[in-house]
Amino acid sequence: MSIIFRLTADIMPGMTHADLIARYDGRVPRYTSYPTAPNFSPAIGPDDYAAWLAALPADAALSLYFHVPFCDRLCLYCGCNTSVVRQDEPRRAYAELLRRELRLIAGHIGRDAQAGRARVGHVHWGGGTPTTLPADCLTGVMETVRDLFDLLPGAEVAIEIDPTALPDDRLQALAAMGVNRASLGVQDFEPAVQAAIGRIQTFEATDSCARSLRSLGIDSINLDLIYGLPHQTEHSVAETARMALELGADRIAVFGYAHVPWMKRHQALIPDSSLPDAQARFAQRGRIENVLQAEGGYRAVGLDHYAQPNDALAQAAGSAAGKDRLRRNFQGYTTDAAPALIGIGASAIGSLPQGYVQNAPGVPAYAAAIRADRLASVRGVALTEDDRLRRDVIERIMCDLQADLPALAAAHGADPAPLLAAAHGLERFQADGLVCWDGSRVEVTATGRPFVRNVAALFDAYLTPDNAVRRHAQAV
Ligand SMILES: C[S@@+](CC[C@H](N)C(=O)[O-])C[C@H]1O[C@@H](n2cnc3c(N)ncnc32)[C@H](O)[C@@H]1O
Ligand code: SF4
Repeated sequence: MSIIFRLTADIMPGMTHADLIARYDGRVPRYTSYPTAPNFSPAIGPDDYAAWLAALPADAALSLYFHVPFCDRLCLYCGCNTSVVRQDEPRRAYAELLRRELRLIAGHIGRDAQAGRARVGHVHWGGGTPTTLPADCLTGVMETVRDLFDLLPGAEVAIEIDPTALPDDRLQALAAMGVNRASLGVQDFEPAVQAAIGRIQTFEATDSCARSLRSLGIDSINLDLIYGLPHQTEHSVAETARMALELGADRIAVFGYAHVPWMKRHQALIPDSSLPDAQARFAQRGRIENVLQAEGGYRAVGLDHYAQPNDALAQAAGSAAGKDRLRRNFQGYTTDAAPALIGIGASAIGSLPQGYVQNAPGVPAYAAAIRADRLASVRGVALTEDDRLRRDVIERIMCDLQADLPALAAAHGADPAPLLAAAHGLERFQADGLVCWDGSRVEVTATGRPFVRNVAALFDAYLTPDNAVRRHAQAV
């Protein structure tokens, strides 16, 4: 059983939630990678990526991530890399680029007839809204995957879905693609909140989408909820969480609204004055958690996920070791343990044994590279030994909410001293009841779970107060 269910350390006497928030509501990364994306540099380019692909272990099962940066609408809160594209022609052209990039990548991996095609165990379609691509394009890209790679029996094929943008032909395409996991964006069911965030989506539309997916055999369903949106209250988010329970999802992700109008200009249409403050956000998060756990029987997973007890994510959260342990990647929490995640499409990030690479963020630059038969990566980072060790520490803290620092250092053949030096920062967290720290092992308490990113940030060698303020959203 995960530590989060065992530890019940309460807030220290004299300390209130408001005090904790005041102390820890800085800006910290979400740690879907380490080093985090703001630390990628143009020094890592297509030549490095080509060499890294060629060196992939022959027996490794790979994961593929497709990014589709198009939507039918632009939700005002959206922090994703997307834009409104409604014409058929650019959508078709983009799907053709995805196929072409796949061929380029398969060429660089370069298996001969004897070694066979590279194996693929996970495919994830994200965005944006992948189902904005025409149905025949979606199935066409998956055909190319099957032509070029050995898509393993039982492979997970997951897709992110906007329940208001799933016409019947796209639904049928999902079945033909072999999709077996769908993630539905919900955010909030309250009409006043939906009006303020420019996303009108009735409960009936979401329910009907989930039913349609299940009727096709796609019964692994995830929902996304957000707190910290305009006009949300503790009462309203609890109601949304209760309605979400009615949908019977296997997993529910609960994100804090990341308001970064200096990076996402359309978010400026959400006035700061309409947003709940840090204390209200904290309370909303707690209410949603309470409904999902106490009324829905969901188990907390990592920072912000909840899963049915028999779901693979909940099981993984309970196994602190072994190959089935919980992992964290750009899609959030996962059981995917593949050594390489290949990112395909504009802005897609790949994670390879040697480091991270990111494709050109804009479609024109991405398209120009692929049309010239060049890999489209424009930045990245090659992992040092120190990065690998800290990445492990941060991933274990984010996933297991605990880490044994000398044991992790030993597994990397490294001196634990730099980690233990960074761990001095834990003393303050311990005094506030957020962690238990015995000089070797750190365990995040139930009270500390909302602050787990702050704990992980202690071990981030790149984070400075200066770059944190501009690049990241609120911790709480
Ligand atoms: C790519 S979108 C989901 C797919 C689909 N386009 C939709 O909106 O239903 C992935 C998720 O990111 C989350 N998200 C987007 N912008 C966010 C923000 N600014 N802060 C927190 N979560 C955000 C939402 O929960 C959303 O469902
Ligand atoms: S939340 Fe989803 S549908 Fe809305 S703009 Fe972002 S990616 Fe598009």
